[in-house]
Amino acid sequence: MEQNLKSVRMWIITCLLFILGQAMENDRDFKMCGTWRHGNASRNLKYDLKTGCKEIEISANESTLSIQGSITATCTRSSSIPLKSNPLQNQSDFCVFWEPLLDLLIVQVIGKNHTLCESHGLQGTCCTDLSQGNHKTAALYGIVNGSTHGDIIRYGVMEVYRFRGDSINCKEKFCDEASQKHSGANMIEEAVMKSNKIGRVDLPCAQSRIIEMEEGFTGLRFTLPAPRIVAPNMIPSVYLPSCLKSQSRSTSKVVCTYYQNKTLFQRGSSDADLLGGIVGLSVENEIIKNLPEPVRISFHHSPNHSRSCVSWDTRRDNEVTWRYDGCETVKIHDTETECCCNHLTYFAILVQVEQKTTVRHLQALTFITAVGCAMSLVSCLVLFYWLCKRRGKKTQISLVHRGLVVAIFLLCLFFILTGTLANVGNEIVCKITGSLLHYALLSTLCWMAMEVFHTFLLIRKVFNSTLPTWIFYLVGFGLPVLLVSILFLIEWLGVDVDIYGERMIVPSDDVNNPYRMCWMLENDNSLLAHYIINVGLLAVVVSSGAVMLFLVVREIRNRPDWKKIHVAFLSIWGLTCLFGTTWGLGFLDFGPMSETILFLFCIINSLQGFFLMLRYYALEGMKKKDRSISDGSSSGSSKQHMLQTHEKS
Ligand SMILES: *[C@@H]1O[C@H](CO)[C@@H](O)[C@H](O)[C@H]1NC(C)=O
Ligand SMILES: *[C@@H]1O[C@H](CO)[C@@H](O)[C@H](O)[C@H]1NC(C)=O
Ligand SMILES: *[C@@H]1O[C@H](CO)[C@@H](O)[C@H](O)[C@H]1NC(C)=O
Ligand SMILES: *[C@@H]1O[C@H](CO)[C@@H](O)[C@H](O)[C@H]1NC(C)=O
Ligand SMILES: *[C@@H]1O[C@H](CO)[C@@H](O)[C@H](O)[C@H]1NC(C)=O
Ligand SMILES: *[C@@H]1O[C@H](CO)[C@@H](O)[C@H](O)[C@H]1NC(C)=O
Ligand SMILES: *[C@@H]1O[C@H](CO)[C@@H](O)[C@H](O)[C@H]1NC(C)=O
Repeated sequence: MEQNLKSVRMWIITCLLFILGQAMENDRDFKMCGTWRHGNASRNLKYDLKTGCKEIEISANESTLSIQGSITATCTRSSSIPLKSNPLQNQSDFCVFWEPLLDLLIVQVIGKNHTLCESHGLQGTCCTDLSQGNHKTAALYGIVNGSTHGDIIRYGVMEVYRFRGDSINCKEKFCDEASQKHSGANMIEEAVMKSNKIGRVDLPCAQSRIIEMEEGFTGLRFTLPAPRIVAPNMIPSVYLPSCLKSQSRSTSKVVCTYYQNKTLFQRGSSDADLLGGIVGLSVENEIIKNLPEPVRISFHHSPNHSRSCVSWDTRRDNEVTWRYDGCETVKIHDTETECCCNHLTYFAILVQVEQKTTVRHLQALTFITAVGCAMSLVSCLVLFYWLCKRRGKKTQISLVHRGLVVAIFLLCLFFILTGTLANVGNEIVCKITGSLLHYALLSTLCWMAMEVFHTFLLIRKVFNSTLPTWIFYLVGFGLPVLLVSILFLIEWLGVDVDIYGERMIVPSDDVNNPYRMCWMLENDNSLLAHYIINVGLLAVVVSSGAVMLFLVVREIRNRPDWKKIHVAFLSIWGLTCLFGTTWGLGFLDFGPMSETILFLFCIINSLQGFFLMLRYYALEGMKKKDRSISDGSSSGSSKQHMLQTHEKS
């Protein structure tokens, strides 16, 4: 619900920004278009431009389209260009573009662009807000359908259009505009790129350095330009590797921009905490990805331990999102961090929220797990019902199976609950849920251990397969209670000891929306408890399982039926061990696993209850078949014994 409201709000804001953005664009840049009605004799484009901020006059007659006036900051030019065109045509479309920030004036006529004034850097004061002055009508030749920014001024034939300008601080206005837009930083880099300058370009909101990479570029390290208020030792530096220059072009330009003010990057849903400024890098007309040698950006910042390099997610330009992947964080010392990135966009150092590792495709994984858990819950119910109903429900085999089914049921149930309850936001509720989940995990491990152990006892016939029932309950349900209670007690009594609580898993593609769950925390105490109890128990289960397997195989290898059943036997035992370990593994660490393993792991794990049921039915089927074959045969009792073994493993 809240998510919905949030997205609706985002949408409205985006729409408003879009509308405002459109209106604002009209202010600074100027675009006048029309149709030039001319004769069929030779034609030319005449211009006469001077510096200042008075008026621009766009006029046309039978043979000449003429632009004149004084609106430029530095450009003074006048000339006449002959235009080639089809003599049968008696009219042509034209447009005049004026970008005051760049001091750039282009006339597009007969499908060709003529740059009358070229940009030489960004202008401080410039002539903008061009408004209509006196116009003059004409009889036959002139401008038809004159329009500014797509709005028709006059439909009739005009000889002259005049526009008056205002002198303003263009850089400030540009920064204001950029800060209102969601793609403000892109706007700035585009303008800097178009400014046609090499070297330093300053804006109130950003400082850039434009570098031209020429043939044989061997890499370059430099310090970014920064405003004076930034201490010189706090300014980031950048290393551009030689592979940045594409072989297909003889030269290409790189724009490196330093944004000290973070407002351009902290709009919308983002509440990311950035350390220091932001560095933007882009190469002219290219999208840079998968560089063989990384770009290195070295940031200086106030000391903070939990920090990480992030880069702007360019795929979603409506939202401010930072990603962890694509950049490697090298902590040089407390106040300096180097980011090694294989692509170009905007980079920054983000202060991290508790969690160190991020998970790719977290949404898909969460979904798979939820579906799998739901299937497992149903399977557990069915299996439990079946185990209670069938003959021989009083046997110990049946008891151990039921114990495992209950434990897995609880594990899936709490696993589903933990994600939901974490969002309730109550600390106590989360601690309790976390401890219940932990209890279910321990209980599952214990029951698995007992499945293995019970099988072992049966085959070795050590105690003639009769252990008191209460021992199973005590180990399967009692031991985990003891362990969790001890942890709870430590948390209760200890000062500043938190073991259970809310834990966040951060998806790599949207750092600002972590997945919350209630589980053991990631502080030193919890980690210690985790290693001693969880990892310890898992190690005991797996290693004792392996030892018992070895002993059992050695024992029964010589029995007459072994050849027939050993494949089934081994595979079933192996599966049990696999299932036991996967659940445990999942809680060990989310970080270093590869994506495929992570997906497999989530699928196998969450479907455990389901697999348990499948295995059970498969075994029952085998048993029935075997029973009918071996009826009356002398080796019947021995077979019976082996099949019991299956069932238990
Ligand atoms: C140009 O226009 C004049 C009349 O305006 C006409 O007499 C002449 O034939 C035209 N020339 C061409 C090449 O179309
Ligand atoms: C058209 O205008 C230009 C300058 O604006 C002028 O030099 C030229 O004589 C005019 N041509 C005609 C036919 O009026
Ligand atoms: C322009 O040419 C078209 C035919 O191509 C003609 O119908 C029209 O009258 C001409 N207009 C003028 C102003 O010469
Ligand atoms: C001419 O320049 C304008 C403004 O920069 C641009 O929008 C247009 O695409 C250009 N046209 C051509 C044919 O290059
Ligand atoms: C001027 O605009 C009107 C209305 O949009 C259109 O019908 C007419 O053809 C246009 N004239 C020229 C010369 O483009
Ligand atoms: C950053 O920019 C915003 C908007 O342009 C401005 O309101 C704010 O004061 C600036 N912050 C700093 C620290 O300069
Ligand atoms: C790191 O930065 C965050 C947010 O700015 C702050 O809350 C935290 O105390 C800092 N940690 C250290 C060790 O300075």
